[in-house]
Amino acid sequence: MKTLTRVGLVILVTLCLAIPGGAVQGQRNAAAPTGYITGVVRSSQGPEAGVWVIAETKDLLTNFIKIVVTDDQGRFMLPDLPSANYSVWVRGYGLVDSAKTQMKPSTNSATLTATVAKTPQEAAKVYPGNYWLSLMEPPARSNFPGTGAQGNGAGATMLTQNHWINSLKSGCNFCHQLGNQLTRTLDDVYKAEPSVKTSIEAWDRRLHGGVRGDGMYGTLGTMGKDASLKSFADWTDRIAKGEVPPAPARPKGIERNVVVTLWDVGDDHSFMHDEASTDKNHPTVNGGGPVYAVSAGHGQLVIMDPKENSTFSVDIPTRASKETVPSRFPKGQSSL
Ligand code: HEC
Repeated sequence: MKTLTRVGLVILVTLCLAIPGGAVQGQRNAAAPTGYITGVVRSSQGPEAGVWVIAETKDLLTNFIKIVVTDDQGRFMLPDLPSANYSVWVRGYGLVDSAKTQMKPSTNSATLTATVAKTPQEAAKVYPGNYWLSLMEPPARSNFPGTGAQGNGAGATMLTQNHWINSLKSGCNFCHQLGNQLTRTLDDVYKAEPSVKTSIEAWDRRLHGGVRGDGMYGTLGTMGKDASLKSFADWTDRIAKGEVPPAPARPKGIERNVVVTLWDVGDDHSFMHDEASTDKNHPTVNGGGPVYAVSAGHGQLVIMDPKENSTFSVDIPTRASKETVPSRFPKGQSSL
């Protein structure tokens, strides 16, 4: 489950129509890059409207990604690209991820070829985690109020089914989403622990594991271990058999006027929290300036400069010497 802890992504979203005139105040003067990639996305169905076009590069000081959405005629324009080689590809509901095309910013228009998904399962691979989570059946209403481990397996403090659902959201989802590819399958558990045979055992095993095993198992205990493991296992069993959530609608209208820029900062152990780029009471402060984040548990302030696409970290001083400060990431735990 490394992706939950690993990658610090800083995201800046610009809704083109939503920027008030004053928003540019206080912006620094460095010129934005002017390169762009433009073109049209087509599949066997014709132009593909409302799909994402994604340009990625590792040529800059940070890994860099720019994402836009196609218009009614399948057209797109990726703006403000620093000079670099980009892998450009298409993702969209109803499609399978396209092959990557190597491109540089240029005035030539490109045609990107998208492939229509052949089965609902193929299409569903890129649906958001929450759509997959919507397939989860909570323990039946008749299990509440729970009577605990010696009773019906629902937590003794769980008064109603909604209380259980709320604990899932404010306990499990407090830390991370459920429903992404890793959490909706058990393949990684079976691979790492060949002695594990059933999906209930696999869920029991995985909720013990990793750097936050105690936190997950504690939440599970409060929700009621037996009843909750049954719900989780039933969810992943049905998905393994091919059940898929309803298809999300593609972005429409103003939802397509979005430009997302992502910078990949930190290192493979960063635990990035509390990104800040401005003062929420004065949101024009530091416009276009550096973005700050705390690598929590590792005592570092990570700084990203969106003009330079660069990043560096500063050690945060501690009152006691660093070696004596307990880590939030105790060593010696299983990596599962
Ligand atoms: C305290 C924060 C926290 C809470 C609460 C929490 N998780 Fe996690 N969870 C994590 C972290 C961190 C990881 C990654 C562990 C690692 O890779 O070391 C993880 C990993 C997972 C995984 C993937 C395990 C694998 O590798 O197969 C699943 C599934 C999961 N959590 C489900 C849940 C469920 C269900 C709950 C609620 C009962 C929950 N989590 C509550 C922090 C949390």
